[in-house]
Amino acid sequence: MKPSEPSRQGGVLIVDFGAQYCQLIARRVREMGVYSRITTPERALAEMTAQQPQAVILSGGPRSVYDADAPVLDVAVVQRGVPVLGICYGLQWLAHHLGGRVEPARGHHEYGRTEIEVLEASGVLEGVAERTVVWMSHGDRVTSLPPGFRVLARSEPCPVAVIADDQRRIYGFQFHPEVAHTEQGMLMLRNFVRGVADCTPDWNPGSIIESKVAEIAAQVGPKGEVVMGLSGGVDSSVAAVLVHRAIGGRLHCVFVDNGLLRQDERENVQRLFRDEHHMDLITVDAGARFLEALRGVTDPEEKRKTIGRVFVEVFRAEAARMSSVHFLGQGTLYPDVIESVAAHGGATATIKSHHNVGGLPEDLDMELVEPLRDLFKDEVRAIGRELGLPASLVDRQPFPGPGLAVRCLGEVTAEKLAILRQADAIVRAEIESRNLHRDLWQYFAVYVPTRTVGVMGDQRTYQDAIALRIVSSKDGMTADWECLPVDVLRKISSRITNEVRGINRVVLDITSKPPGTIEWE
Ligand code: XMP
Repeated sequence: MKPSEPSRQGGVLIVDFGAQYCQLIARRVREMGVYSRITTPERALAEMTAQQPQAVILSGGPRSVYDADAPVLDVAVVQRGVPVLGICYGLQWLAHHLGGRVEPARGHHEYGRTEIEVLEASGVLEGVAERTVVWMSHGDRVTSLPPGFRVLARSEPCPVAVIADDQRRIYGFQFHPEVAHTEQGMLMLRNFVRGVADCTPDWNPGSIIESKVAEIAAQVGPKGEVVMGLSGGVDSSVAAVLVHRAIGGRLHCVFVDNGLLRQDERENVQRLFRDEHHMDLITVDAGARFLEALRGVTDPEEKRKTIGRVFVEVFRAEAARMSSVHFLGQGTLYPDVIESVAAHGGATATIKSHHNVGGLPEDLDMELVEPLRDLFKDEVRAIGRELGLPASLVDRQPFPGPGLAVRCLGEVTAEKLAILRQADAIVRAEIESRNLHRDLWQYFAVYVPTRTVGVMGDQRTYQDAIALRIVSSKDGMTADWECLPVDVLRKISSRITNEVRGINRVVLDITSKPPGTIEWE
């Protein structure tokens, strides 16, 4: 497995001490147009040599500097003359290793909103108000400053809230400037990144595309060929277009129609990539195979596993026919790479170099081409727009890998899928035609195989229900249920009950996440 390599030099290197907010720091820096990357304490020094960062940020973390398993970082990282900002644990690490004193918490934790008093509004605090609200989250505290440092701000319970050594350009915040609760946090970070460290703001969609295309071309070489699964989602689409720009016809895309797609999805993918982008696109008609494998399966996790397994089998069979292909393209995103860590690696997160989001096994024995593996979703969308992909694709709502199978409760059958697909298309059309989807994270129909009594004309009916799932969310981790204007709900309901045979009832899901999940299965 190869470690994640910097896609360019310069920018900010963020050392992850196991902070829950580490990704947020990276995003904030990029929002300033500056390249940023996260690394582990163990790799930091080597990464400094590889990336030649213009600034280093040491993140927060759950440990105390006195813990036996406190993350180990070579102090040489702060001795190279590169400006350093320590955040929370990062500040404590600086104080501890540069000759100051850190007192263990002994029950004195400070957590949440606190007001700081700015003693000197200069350097990293340039332009910051005399009193401003910040987000604290720490146990240990600095009680004696390392030589060369002075205090720029304090809070009531914490006399050392911001420290600075202008000579060596080393700074520390005891709070989290990266979270929205810290009122002037973005200004503080900008002061460090763009002000003190003078980082080059060259991170924008155009420059990212340019460097990605060059990287792919260099990795694949003049003759190499790449196979890639195209799902029709944003990530695989943007990744494929980048690879296509780099190597043209040497990219072979495989679109597996698993029969669990939404209405018109297959046609849309084919039109866009084959007809408009002139890509080599192989569509595998595997719907029957998936349905066969799903027969009798009602447990949601088993459904997911079955779909994952069949997808691998189908993809593997296609790839096996391409004997000249030695590279596998994937739309892996940066959060996928980092999250796999938080989930499996605990606090001292080792960035996993290889996290197969699509679930393709390593024994495919191909070298991975993952042009998005250091990008966040919003950056991928911005690149997609820059590459000329349509808004309907770039801004499209997330769609789960197992597709309609996890929205079709109980056993999945062709009949149920047809009904769900039709109802779902109505939901989407009514919402999108009124432009109501802009503020929504997901909006879809769920097939609920609960027989309910109805009346149609003079006839009693005994049919199933469709639930509307309409949610807003920032990242899918939590979500709020959303309502639509009543006339839109009425229209959706009457269209579904009138047009979709087999459905006599429409209900609205008014459950937030938590406690409900977004998908019903
Ligand atoms: P839940 O249902 O867990 O969903 O609240 C959170 C987000 O993840 C999507 N989701 C999935 N995506 N494979 C995927 O690729 C899955 O098995 C899966 N399950 C849920 C869901 O659509 C939502 O955006």
